[in-house]
Amino acid sequence: MNGGIVVLTGAGVSAESGVRTFRAADGLWEEHRIEDVATVEGFTRDPVLVHRFYNERRQTLATVQPNAAHQALANFEKNYTGDFLLVTQNIDDLHERAGSKRLIHMHGELLRMFCTQCMHNINITGDSSVEDTCVACGKRGGMRPDIVWFGEMPYQMSAIEQALMQCDLFVAIGTSGNVYPAAGFVQSARAIGARCVELNLEQSTTHHLFDEGRYGPATEEVEAFFSALLKTSSLTQ
Ligand code: APR
Repeated sequence: MNGGIVVLTGAGVSAESGVRTFRAADGLWEEHRIEDVATVEGFTRDPVLVHRFYNERRQTLATVQPNAAHQALANFEKNYTGDFLLVTQNIDDLHERAGSKRLIHMHGELLRMFCTQCMHNINITGDSSVEDTCVACGKRGGMRPDIVWFGEMPYQMSAIEQALMQCDLFVAIGTSGNVYPAAGFVQSARAIGARCVELNLEQSTTHHLFDEGRYGPATEEVEAFFSALLKTSSLTQ
């Protein structure tokens, strides 16, 4: 990577848009058991509940907009001439709506679903259900949200690892550092000597692994950090 930058985002980057985080006192996991709505076993046990859970999340997308943090990242990518990769754990589409292009949804996307029979993957904007039929294989009942559940392998890990192995700067934004492998990216980046920065509302579980932490709302910290970085990088190029 040429002046390579890898950014990892979590639920905190979308919090000020009105998308609920997972582990806050009013977070999603306070109301739902992870085993019920975010595992293959939960889906097998009660697919109706799981479809309803993700339908509710998908419906909220129509009511939310990208915030200043999503915009700042998209703006940075547009103007930065070095290598840049944005990896998000979020399943909302706010980064792409803000204009981010070099983006990996490592935990899947609310606006996609796939057939567990033939793996055909489609876009979805409305509700999904156990009655859905796969347009590719014609089988009914096997469609599931394209979300990486606990126990499943996140998407595009080799591309992410390759970018981490070559980056000079790693920035984690709005993530609590509880879920691996994403929580371990800072260790990979550190190991090759990259500068590691955390931008979060509060110290994450892995804060001690970062060279620097800046604490405050993402809409303020991300904008401030990346506009300053753009200025310095244009001076040094
Ligand atoms: N600005 C910045 N950070 C914020 C803000 C904000 N406005 N609001 C909350 N945060 C921070 C919280 O302090 C917390 O550290 O965002 C973090 C959100 O943590 P989690 O709810 O645990 O979300 P995340 O780290 O993205 O979860 C990782 O866990 O359940 C799974 O698959 C799910 O992708 C998710 C993964």
